[in-house]
Amino acid sequence: MSAQNSAVEQAADVLRAGGLVALPTETVYGLGANAEDPVAVARIFEVKGRPPSHPLIVHIGGAEQLDDWVEDVPATARVLAEHFWPGPLTLVLRRGRRVPLEATGGLETVAVRVPDHPVALELLAAFGGGVTAPSANRFGSVSPTTAAHVRTELGDAVDFVLDGGACEVGVESTIVDVTGEVPTILRPGGVTREDLEAVLGLPLAVPATSNVRVPGQHPSHYAPRARVVLVEPDEIVQEAARAQEAGRQVGVFLPPALADTPVKAHAVVTVPDAMSAYARGLFGFLRELDEQGCDLIVASLPAEEGLGLAIANRLRRAAGPRTAAG
Ligand code: TXA
Ligand code: MG
Repeated sequence: MSAQNSAVEQAADVLRAGGLVALPTETVYGLGANAEDPVAVARIFEVKGRPPSHPLIVHIGGAEQLDDWVEDVPATARVLAEHFWPGPLTLVLRRGRRVPLEATGGLETVAVRVPDHPVALELLAAFGGGVTAPSANRFGSVSPTTAAHVRTELGDAVDFVLDGGACEVGVESTIVDVTGEVPTILRPGGVTREDLEAVLGLPLAVPATSNVRVPGQHPSHYAPRARVVLVEPDEIVQEAARAQEAGRQVGVFLPPALADTPVKAHAVVTVPDAMSAYARGLFGFLRELDEQGCDLIVASLPAEEGLGLAIANRLRRAAGPRTAAG
């Protein structure tokens, strides 16, 4: 048995015993529990400091298990599952009896996905059941994309950390509600709107960040310690210098087009040109600037197409009002 296999077996045992396992997925690390164990699920909320009304995602090992967890699967959901699973797409469907209300925040719908990560899939196969898992960070803070981030965030509060390396996608899954007449994107993420539209053959609306009414989507999710301000790309250098001169410790998300521009700031991250690389690095960059002691991060939004839509959504939330997240 390889070392990784035995770690997976140990993690499955921890889940069976009602414990919490941090697991790698292709998007971000999750804080997992046996989806059918209400006591274990309640511990997730405790450890995260998350209000119990915020619904969780149930991770399953394959699309063929979908009907074990939900009811009334519409044809659209089957098409999406077929195309995008395993992958960074979460479907909201009608809750099946197996899913305790503790996992759905009391809702009669449940969010389900099949993660595209070999270690997560091994764990789900070894465990045999569903694993309910939010991102493995404290409520309101930046999602972890490495096992080291998880340990920093949660320390001993988690019973087992499965290390599967750095997450490939880097932003959370796209959440699509398929319980209504038309599918709706509740959260932009790793599967792009364009790819969903191409498969469905119809345009999809994306709710504006400011008026999202999904439970668990407060404006200031994904926030680093430093305050984040968003400005136009051509104002970044000037804004950073102004704040640095005013005594702030400024971190800058420098657009790739300005890579060689000298910047007056405490720390600078040049953001990658390719959106996939930007998404992969995003949460790590925010953590890095926090660690370097920045108290203000100056950034601009990428074009809101492809993965840029999810990146802009996370940056907007990072810059959102802090009081709302509690
Ligand atoms: O990529 C991901 O989705 C990661 C990895 C670990 O799978 N998970 C993740 O979980 O981002 P979390 O808990 O941080 O975000 C899940 C979001 C909730 O904030 C909530 O908005 C939405 O999913 N959600 C869950 N169940 C829902 C439901 N029944 N109806 C509407 N939204 C729901
Ligand atoms: Mg989260």
